Amino acid sequence: MADSSLPIVRDVAGLRAQISAWRGQGLRVGLVPTMGALHDGHLSLVRAAKEKCDRAVATLFVNPKQFAPNEDFERYPRDEAGDGAMLASAGCDLLYAPERTIMYPDGFATSVIVTSVSTPLEGEFRPHFFGGVATVVTKLLLQALPDAAFFGEKDYQQLQVIKRMAGDLDIPVAIEGCATVRESDGLAMSSRNAYLSADERRIAARLNHILHDAIKAVHAGEPIAQAEAEAARHLSAAGFTSIDYVAIRDAQTLQPVTDSSRPARILAAAWLGKTRLIDNMAV
Ligand code: PAF
Repeated sequence: MADSSLPIVRDVAGLRAQISAWRGQGLRVGLVPTMGALHDGHLSLVRAAKEKCDRAVATLFVNPKQFAPNEDFERYPRDEAGDGAMLASAGCDLLYAPERTIMYPDGFATSVIVTSVSTPLEGEFRPHFFGGVATVVTKLLLQALPDAAFFGEKDYQQLQVIKRMAGDLDIPVAIEGCATVRESDGLAMSSRNAYLSADERRIAARLNHILHDAIKAVHAGEPIAQAEAEAARHLSAAGFTSIDYVAIRDAQTLQPVTDSSRPARILAAAWLGKTRLIDNMAV
């Protein structure tokens, strides 16, 4: 049970009734999709929703379709009461927390697949991931029909996939990206940081500094491939146990940079023991 001061709905009819009542009064509604285990990064999305809209609705659903069988679906942290209290404190007006049977009833047989922008980077290492995300986010947007939906740049490729998907499918919702929120040592906030041991947590803070250094090197004229390789080498030397990728890519398509006049982004995914961390920054 979530904090009692935050109203909760668990079905589509209840969600739509409240949102269409607000919109009928001329109020703008912002949606903040989450999988719970909330931190300040999520709360910044709620605050952004309240700044740009009149009402903020958060969703809480740990989406099984975006986890591979060997991933952390079972151990993903779940604390609806704690999440509800945090959402209420950030000014959230409604929590939508559907059961799995509401999202994926028996016989559910539809997947939303976004090609191109989904394919590289996360798409290579987690091939199931963006299909699961695009499917659940499409459902959440169509269930809620808000004016805008808010996503963190921490999951930068996910944000580009969702923008592409909403545009391609003419879903009439503005997709808003919000800056990554970081700890005081620069580590990007993530629900999965809770898995880190004290030693791993210390090493994790190196990730953002190593990406900053790579950006500086590129600005000083180092070729992109060399800056990527150096950054990967520094991550290994810092204690990261495995590096999935460090890549400087076109900021919109996530393809290799071919036109240096277009915005670029550095993105990385690396492991500390059993925990996979991702981060990214504008180049
Ligand atoms: O970023 C997340 O927390 C999830 O991928 C999302 C967008 C809520 C879909 O399950």
